[in-house]
Amino acid sequence: MPKPQVFITRHLTTKLDQLQQIATIEVWEERQPPPYTVLLKKVKTIDGLLCLLTDQIDQQLIEAAGTSFKVISQMAVGYDNIDIPVATARKIPVGHTPGVLTDATADLTWALLMAAARRVVEADRFVRGGEWRTWEPNLLLGPNITGATLGIVGFGRIGQAIARRAKGFDMKVFYTSKNRCDQELERDLGVEFTAFEHLLQEADFVTIHTPLLDETYHLFSDRQFKLMKQSAILINTARGAIVDQEALYQALANGEIAGAAIDVTDPEPIPTDSPLLSLDNLIITPHIGSASRQTREKMANMAIVNLIAGLKGERLPNCVNPEVY
Ligand code: NAP
Ligand code: GLV
Repeated sequence: MPKPQVFITRHLTTKLDQLQQIATIEVWEERQPPPYTVLLKKVKTIDGLLCLLTDQIDQQLIEAAGTSFKVISQMAVGYDNIDIPVATARKIPVGHTPGVLTDATADLTWALLMAAARRVVEADRFVRGGEWRTWEPNLLLGPNITGATLGIVGFGRIGQAIARRAKGFDMKVFYTSKNRCDQELERDLGVEFTAFEHLLQEADFVTIHTPLLDETYHLFSDRQFKLMKQSAILINTARGAIVDQEALYQALANGEIAGAAIDVTDPEPIPTDSPLLSLDNLIITPHIGSASRQTREKMANMAIVNLIAGLKGERLPNCVNPEVY
């Protein structure tokens, strides 16, 4: 019997030996993702796909998949690029990589929070620009982090990891989420559940950790920025489209909020002529939340394990749509 065929949409640093034993592998070796038309052609003949969040796995693509197509395995925890209802209707399990990237993403979120508060990027530009003349009492001042109030929007794996970090900074922590978590966990993490609007009004730092869903699209727009403190800083390491970027630009340019630090934009990459890039009170990183070497290795391995299970017709260890079983 010929081995199943799999397509991996980018070069991974991890070893593919285990997969190689059971499948014939084709890897897209270019730096840019495969064009949609290439994917559309591939899915007609392959048995499994290992994809990234840069691949658009939509209705047309899933419906074009051949009869032998068995599994979609995404190397990311978020899966808003995949049409899950259509995959489910075709009984195709979709895998993802939760948990292994929680700490790396929380660490980057914390780095952004601290860099925005203490103006680290501006300060670096200041020194390189030859502007450092002397120690000045009022140079590059920012707010305190220790003892400040933090608002966490979306209290899942990463949101909770942020709360654990906040403990070390003696912060008052509010969270809002679809569901309130159990009170023992609240006590343990030292957090208080509150309404979204109250959190916006109270927090010195607001950090976003929801998935991108219909109901979280542009969750942050004009009204939400107006509710926030003028001294507040927004951090977004979730998905770009959760924030209305035009509204974010206005809020930052008009001083409705003090600053922002974002790892995700809409679209990605952000166009180089975006007005956001002209703002000194905004830090942008290129979607590197999970980018520690160890984490990316774990994500790749987890995606391969999901892929192998799908090829063998076994239940994926981390399945987004278990209804297929
Ligand atoms: P998670 O454990 O599923 O947490 C998401 C949380 O958001 C859940 O508690 C969920 O509540 C809550 N939520 C859902 N809808 C909401 C709403 N309308 N309002 C408020 N809260 C809502 O996911 P995670 O592992 O923490 O990851 C969160 C997101 O981070 C991912 O979906 C991904 O987009 C993003 N991410 C980005 C990077 C990066 O590189 N920048 C890395 C990793 C993850 P329920 O559980 O009750 O539904
Ligand atoms: C990264 O953004 C992920 O969802 O894993």
